[in-house]
Amino acid sequence: MQIKNSAVSMIIEAENQKELEEIKLQFLGRSGRLTLTLKGITKIPAERRATVGQLANDVKDVIEDALEEKNLALKSQVSNQKKQSIDITNPGIKPDIGHLHPMTQVLNEVVDVFKSIGFQTADGPEIETDYYNFTALNMPPNAPSRDTQATLYLDTHDSKVEPGQILLRTQTSNMQVRIMEKIKPPVRTIVPGKVFRVDDVDASHSFEFWQLEGFMVDKNVKMTDLLGTIDYVLKKLMGEKTKIKFATTNFAFVEPGIDTYMECTVCKGKGCGFCKNSGWSEIMPAGMIHPNVLKAAGYDSQKVTGFAFAIGLSRLVTLRYGMDDLRLLTNPDLRILEQF
Ligand code: DAH
Repeated sequence: MQIKNSAVSMIIEAENQKELEEIKLQFLGRSGRLTLTLKGITKIPAERRATVGQLANDVKDVIEDALEEKNLALKSQVSNQKKQSIDITNPGIKPDIGHLHPMTQVLNEVVDVFKSIGFQTADGPEIETDYYNFTALNMPPNAPSRDTQATLYLDTHDSKVEPGQILLRTQTSNMQVRIMEKIKPPVRTIVPGKVFRVDDVDASHSFEFWQLEGFMVDKNVKMTDLLGTIDYVLKKLMGEKTKIKFATTNFAFVEPGIDTYMECTVCKGKGCGFCKNSGWSEIMPAGMIHPNVLKAAGYDSQKVTGFAFAIGLSRLVTLRYGMDDLRLLTNPDLRILEQF
């Protein structure tokens, strides 16, 4: 028994073939410990000889098995080591490195351009009250202008909130009054973020998309400041040769309101499905902030004036890269994302 235990533990600890050979000799060699025991069997009284003989042979089997097993283990260890050995002259394996989503890349650029002309960046809630999303923006309950923004309302069942009072913001303009309530003029802020509308998804529409609201309030801010700012920013982002045109339009929270169009980059002005064959893409609605909005924020509309604008960020990204489908921006397929 003792011979078996010490042989097996030595075999387990053996680190190489040479040590294993020595252990084999020490126990099973011609004058090995087990061999001598077997030889001495004749000296044992006849009646115990058979038992001791059997035991010694069992021990021999166990030791032989352990040696064989260890031998195999050591061999595979050696071949593994050979496989793992490093050829330092081999070129390295290039790790897959991710990068920012095209949406984030363009957003960062837009933020930098506005930063360079003194605009701060703010963040705001996607779940919003009716008040900040509509009422404070000169869109009181039942205002027809609300119909232009099909709204996703949150379920107020089992809560103290009145039905229709909590919604997913339809526009980043929701931050205008929130910010003006906190900061006295002069204010120059942009608010990038996601907005939500009830809409069917197609190449140029989605139920969620990115906008960037911006506004400035100070003494004596004029329409020409707004037009100059839009022109400067769009040319910085899309290139100095970018063709831009303005048209008057109507938004409840600005007076007057304007629409900014940019030549469609998908068809270069020729007309395509993306620009509804007009050759132009609506990119930056804007206007002079309505006195009612300034009043809602607690500003004196006799003393300060301001302008506001929104960039359709998702659209800007598609126009920037000449993508003909907005849905590419939310497609997680790496074959698409790797192109940016
Ligand atoms: N919030 C408007 C929308 O999502 C866009 C907009 C129009 C924002 C005119 C403005 C603005 O700040 O002056 O439809």
